[in-house]
Amino acid sequence: MDDIRARITKDGIRIYEDADFVGMRTAGRVAAEILDAVAPLVVAGTTTAVIDDFITDEIRRRGVTSATIGYKGYKHASCISVNHVVCHGIPGAKVLMDGDILNIDVTVIVDGWYGDTSRMYVAGQLARKAERLIEVTHEGLMRGIAAVKPGNTFGDIGHAIQTYVEAQRMSVVRDFCGHGLGRVFHAPPNVLHYGRPGSGPVLEEGMFFTIEPMVNLGRPETKVLADDWTAVTRDKSLSAQFEHSVGVTATGCEIFTLSPSGKFHPTWG
Ligand code: MF3
Ligand code: CO
Ligand code: CO
Repeated sequence: MDDIRARITKDGIRIYEDADFVGMRTAGRVAAEILDAVAPLVVAGTTTAVIDDFITDEIRRRGVTSATIGYKGYKHASCISVNHVVCHGIPGAKVLMDGDILNIDVTVIVDGWYGDTSRMYVAGQLARKAERLIEVTHEGLMRGIAAVKPGNTFGDIGHAIQTYVEAQRMSVVRDFCGHGLGRVFHAPPNVLHYGRPGSGPVLEEGMFFTIEPMVNLGRPETKVLADDWTAVTRDKSLSAQFEHSVGVTATGCEIFTLSPSGKFHPTWG
């Protein structure tokens, strides 16, 4: 229930109840199942519009709702960000080429709960540098998730990601962040993927948010194209991103958007 007694911390972060994990589990699983289903479509010669149409159909077939269609004027069921596109790539006529890497980001609403997840795919043969970028980005996300437990802070999450990524001589994007979610798409806090230990709000059981680091092979700076959505690396270096929706538990966290078929990473399954 979206009742008025819901507790909000001094940082404006909503604390959800035990029963709310059930709704998030379902929404997260549906989003992850759709990303699983899309994998066979990611081949050289197809277009990002074909992939997005498939996602639109999958959402409809499951009787759930796209959170992105109509969101701030966005018209598509996914964001598809190819190569040097950092995030918010708009599906369209772009033809995938052998060796392209892409992030596909889907958010669904199931019974009022939001499930938000993205992962990397490759069309054809994965080049060594791209593979390393994807590996480091995934590991950065998992290290961020490992820092999620009551008493730690959001700065601890960002610090875990940043120190790992920078030690691999790659960079963390500063211009976009993760976010609280639950019965809404984007809520406090901003979940930064960089930071100092002990900084930021303290994590409490019942917080729901995303962690979605974007990592560049080159410099971290981005710019948004004239379409007002597509964010690209300024230096045109390759960029990767993975996103999970998580909930803080008494001892750590629950990942709501795990891949049911274990295909979260392109070189798995
Ligand atoms: N799913 C994205 C996120 O991780 C947001 C996409 S908003 C859109 O927060 F309008 F671009 F789809
Ligand atoms: Co998100
Ligand atoms: Co997303």
